[in-house]
Amino acid sequence: MLRYFTSGESHGEGLVAFLSGLPAGLKVDLAFVDRELWRRQQGYGRGGRMKIETDRAHILSGVRQALTIGSPIAVLLENKDWKNWEEALPVEEGDPAKHKRVASPRPGHADLAGALKYNFSEARYVLERASARESAARVAIGALAKLFLRELGIEVLSHVVAVGATSLDKEVPWEQIRSLWDRQEILLNCADVDAEQRMKTEVDKVLKTGDSVGGIFEVVAHKVPPGLGTYAQWDERLDGLLAGAVMSLQAVKAVEIGAGVTAAASPGSAVHDEIAYAGEGNFTGFSRSRNNAGGIEGGVSNGEDIRVRGYLKPISTLRRPLQSVDFASREPVKAAYERSDVCVVPAAGVAGEAMVALTLARCALEKFGGDSMLETHRNFQGYCQQLKNY
Ligand SMILES: Cc1cc2nc3c(=O)[nH]c(=O)nc-3n(C[C@H](O)[C@H](O)[C@H](O)COP(=O)(O)O)c2cc1C
Repeated sequence: MLRYFTSGESHGEGLVAFLSGLPAGLKVDLAFVDRELWRRQQGYGRGGRMKIETDRAHILSGVRQALTIGSPIAVLLENKDWKNWEEALPVEEGDPAKHKRVASPRPGHADLAGALKYNFSEARYVLERASARESAARVAIGALAKLFLRELGIEVLSHVVAVGATSLDKEVPWEQIRSLWDRQEILLNCADVDAEQRMKTEVDKVLKTGDSVGGIFEVVAHKVPPGLGTYAQWDERLDGLLAGAVMSLQAVKAVEIGAGVTAAASPGSAVHDEIAYAGEGNFTGFSRSRNNAGGIEGGVSNGEDIRVRGYLKPISTLRRPLQSVDFASREPVKAAYERSDVCVVPAAGVAGEAMVALTLARCALEKFGGDSMLETHRNFQGYCQQLKNY
């Protein structure tokens, strides 16, 4: 079974991600992993932190001579900012005078709930772990999951559908999403140039006013075979697994599969994707006229592209802070401010890709198994042949 964890604090020495359960013999392209990390750091509206960090995956275990060896993989991402925080966040007792308190909880962050839960007198350690810096660790192991999925012909990418009130109201074909990956400069990762400029204007507006903005990203998984996930048990449904994985990302407050949101207000005839038989296709001879289901019916992939949207609340740290209360005095004060992004929709999309890739890789390994890539390939090809013969 594919399992994964992360550890690390936003301003600590580094982040570590663990990935256990990949078969042996998977080619690991480190340049690809680093490019994924770079993609997460891009986008118009990121703050000063991303100028300090240049994330690079340092693999500590589980990969030798550019191949996985079936052992757990540990990846280290160093925090370049650590040198400025060593005295504030010592592992040993250190000097309490050097501690950097977060004196008043920031609305929208975990600050207050976390301080109450862990019995901290202020929110420094809450911020350190609840921060979305952690998502870099997920992107590192998500890149390994992507390399695994590629071996089965599956690709996972994202694009931005909305920033604030500006949205793109058309379905973007896979080829256009695919071509976004080649961009050397990422503005808002939107497939439509005009919409992207309007999105940039939204970000400029909040940059001027000291506010922040949210949005929507869409992750698309291309060439997923029918049959991943199952309706047989509630906790094995692919839609449920993907929703949980994407919702687990910082600031994601809603997840939509396919046209889920508009479908709720539409008649069935306008929603469900009619079935035809063409005799030829990706995996089977069956085809669909459209893909409102987002590639999943009954908790099972149906062979169409899987489409999952993540809805982000606006960034919680505001340059013009909201009202809060001082942890010590309980007096009303403005919420604490710490260097921050104002828009992270493209970056969240990259983290969303990682979560979708990890989820699909886990489901694919449950279905096809294999301790070596040779075995996984053999099982996968046998299943594809079975589908062709159906
Ligand atoms: C890639 C990414 C980067 C983020 N950067 C920031 C940031 O710089 N400042 C901030 O206040 N929130 C940032 N956020 C959002 C916060 O992490 C999020 O609002 C916070 O964790 C509370 O949301 P939650 O209730 O979903 O955890 C970022 C989110 C993502 C996905």
